[in-house]
Parts: sequence; structure tokens; C-alpha cells
Amino acid sequence: MAFTEPVLTKRIPLDPSKRHAVWYDEYEATGGYAQLRRALEMTPADIIKTVTDSGLRGRGGAGFSAGQKWSFIPKEKKGPHYMAVNADESEPGTFKDRYLIDYDPHLMLEGIAISCIATQCDIAYIFIRGEYHREAKVLEKALQEAYAKGVFGQNGTFGSKHKIECYVHRGAGAYICGEETGLLEALEGKRGWPRNKPPFPAIAGAFAKPTVINNVETLCCVPPIMEKGPQWFKSMGTPSSPGPKLFGMSGHVNKPGVYEDELGITLDYAINKLAGGMKGGRYKGSICGGISMGVLGPNQLDIKLDFDDVRFRGGCLGLGTAGMIVMNEHTDMVRALRNCVRFYSHESCGQCTPCREGSAWMRKILDRIVDGLGRARDLEMLMELEKTMGIMPGTTICGLADGTAWATRTFINKYYEEFAARCPEDSQRTVPLTVIKRGNALPTTPMGSNTRV
Ligand SMILES: Cc1cc2nc3c(=O)[nH]c(=O)nc-3n(C[C@H](O)[C@H](O)[C@H](O)COP(=O)(O)O)c2cc1C
Ligand code: SF4
Repeated sequence: MAFTEPVLTKRIPLDPSKRHAVWYDEYEATGGYAQLRRALEMTPADIIKTVTDSGLRGRGGAGFSAGQKWSFIPKEKKGPHYMAVNADESEPGTFKDRYLIDYDPHLMLEGIAISCIATQCDIAYIFIRGEYHREAKVLEKALQEAYAKGVFGQNGTFGSKHKIECYVHRGAGAYICGEETGLLEALEGKRGWPRNKPPFPAIAGAFAKPTVINNVETLCCVPPIMEKGPQWFKSMGTPSSPGPKLFGMSGHVNKPGVYEDELGITLDYAINKLAGGMKGGRYKGSICGGISMGVLGPNQLDIKLDFDDVRFRGGCLGLGTAGMIVMNEHTDMVRALRNCVRFYSHESCGQCTPCREGSAWMRKILDRIVDGLGRARDLEMLMELEKTMGIMPGTTICGLADGTAWATRTFINKYYEEFAARCPEDSQRTVPLTVIKRGNALPTTPMGSNTRV
């Protein structure tokens, strides 16, 4: 059986005019919270086994097995366990979690409660992106209902021995707080600086206690898995990437939006069948999973959108969040990369030199190429810089730098001619780098000096 009907979006009509937030009564009347009641009859080990057997992989970007992650939480409790729900969703091109929260908030709350029982978590914090004002209000209302109906609170879930508290914690609008340990720091009231690992959050996470961190969509997969079982979940998607998936389609497509299908559909299908085809010109490329995953090139429409094909055949970092930014033939790829790198240099938290300095230098180089002052050496320098930064070369604490590197690497490799044409070999032009002194009214880079005018 392949994907035949919506799973995560079954309560969200495709027609936008018919969409509304599903509150507690409607959620329960359509089968909601039945799986939480079932989970109360199961042992934590059985719940973890069910989720592990389903092959559910995290939908926040890294694609790590959810059941395996839960199994790392110590079985013997020596103090509180925490859950952090990652609703930070600040990756450019990604807007799927917002969709689930806006229209079916109790699906996520049920997923949270079940995973708290499985991992013996006492408190769940939903860390939501600062700019998601409406979604935070939706969640607060849904939480109030869930408390009133006995899902959360000190009376125990539906009168059971499991006492779970759940809070909405609003971020302040920093991309780096989506990185799980940056998130934990921010949750603790500190600057959102990612932590060195180990220790991993499962052992010492929030407030130095065992902590589970999962993405919104990951948790929304849990109630359907509990209801229909691991085999049903595995009947969708591919053997190594099972299940349904939300695809966020934006850019030059006729019908941008969030679409649910199964993992493993081709890029061509996503663009032409889900998003209504190209708009304004022929296909040129597609950022495949948020900008940190890199770009799929012109001849890669047959790539399967799952955790492996995008990576091994598509030459990208991975599927990421499956937030596609589709670009038509009129897109300037140099400018597109400059936009990505500008984002990273702005969002780098600054702890690691290769990320802080590297992204700022990449941005300056790309600025000057866009301004028509590029040189052949600039391309070499960009490629040299991208090799030096990230967890993969082992020079940074977190994956933000890998995102910078992969965007740069894939854009230049796949659209080399376009970059090379803007960076002539025999250019005699000099590059006007101007040092801007403090107090000068002109803008400065994140490094605060030595920027161009
Ligand atoms: C720079 C950076 C930003 C991230 N932003 C998010 C985010 O907004 N939401 C999210 O779920 N995961 C984000 N992640 C991934 C998280 O670190 C983590 O892997 C994820 O929340 C785990 O949940 P999952 O296993 O359910 O996918 C980010 C990672 C990095 C390196
Ligand atoms: S890689 Fe960049 S964002 Fe991540 S911790 Fe280092 S400086 Fe901060």
C-alpha cells in the first residue's frame, strides 16, 4: 500500500477556505486522544518499540530514528526528565510545523503526551519561534483545553499515575535556537549558544537532566503509528525512509503551500503534481530541504525526496525539512547563493571562528561578485572556505556552518558556468574593500569592520 489518504493532515482540508483550527471536542470526536488512552495501558518499552519498529525518522532535519532517540533516555529515574518540542522552524523555505500547529494543535499535544509517557518525562516545553505569534496563541488555547480535559496536570493523564506538565516557551527570533542545544540554552534563559557534545541531551539536556528533543511533525506522526501500527507506517515511503511527509513548496510554482504525500516521491512529482507546475519559466533548480541542505540541479528532477536519495544521488546534505524553494530559468543563482550566505553570516552565533569569520568572508566575496567585481580567485576562495567549516570537517560546534558550506558547495558545483562567467580569469579590476571605522554611519558586517561600500 502506498500513500492513499492524508495522515498528518487528515483534519486539514486542502481548500484553504474550509480550514479552521480543530479544537478539543472536534479532535476527540474524530478519534483524537484514543491513542493516548491506549498508551496509558502500555509499558514505556512497548511504546518505544512500536515507534522504533515503524522506522519513524525525525522530521526536523537530521532524520534520526525517533524510537532509538527515546531509548537513550535512562530507564531508571534519578530526577526529572524533560521533553523539548522543537517548534522553532526558522529555516528559510520551511513552514510545515506552523501548518500543523495552526490547524491541528491537539495532534501534536497527543504526540507529546504519548512520548512523555514512553520516556517518563515530567515536563514538556514547546519551544516556538518568536515570530509565530498566532501559533503561540493557538497552542495556549489548545493547552488550556487539554489541561481542562485531563491530558496534562497533576491529577494525572486521564486520571492515571502519569503526571505531565506542558508549557509554551516563546523564542526571541534567532535561527540558532532551532539547533537543539542552542534551544536548551535559550530555554534555560541563557544566550542561545549551541553546546559541545557529548554529553548528549538524552543524558544531560535541559537543566542538566535527561531530555528528549523532537520536531513538531515527528511528534504528530506518533498517534497515527500507535493507531495503525508500524507495518502500516512502513507501507508508505521507502524502506529506509518510511511514512508520510509534509512538503513545503514555495518559489516559482503555481500553487505554493504545504502538501502531504509519502517520502520518496520525485522532485518532478512534487513540483508538477503537488504544487501545480512551474511558474514564469522553465525549471532551473530547487533548494531541497531548507537552504542548509543545498540545491538540486537542473538535471535532478528524478531525485526521490527521501533521506537517502537526495543525499547520495542528489549530492545534497540531505532532505532536511523537505521545504523546497523552486527556482525558474530566470533566477540568478549567484544572487540566490548570496542571499543564503547573507542569512548564515547574520545568524551565526559567533562561537566558532570558521563559522563566524568564514560566513562573513563568503558573504563579502559574494557581494562583490554580485556587484560585477568578481575574480576567478574568488570562486577558488569560496570553495576553499566552504571546506573548512562545519561539524563534518570537525571545526565547529553545530551544523549551522555545514549549512553554509553545503549551500555554497552545491550552488557553485551545479551552476559553475554561471558563477565562472561572473568571475573572469583575466579580470584586471581591483576590489575596493573599504575599512569602515567605528562611528561611521555606513553599515558594517557582523564582524563590525572592513566591509565594502
Ligand atoms: C542551525 C540549526 C537549526 C535547526 N533548526 C531546527 C528547527 O527550527 N526545528 C527543528 O525541528 N529542528 C531544527 N534543527 C535540528 C535540531 O537540532 C534537532 O535535530 C531536531 O529538533 C530533532 O528533532 P527530530 O529528531 O524530531 O527531527 C536545527 C539544526 C541546526 C543545526
Ligand atoms: S557553528 Fe556557527 S552557529 Fe554553530 S555554534 Fe559555531 S559559530 Fe555558532
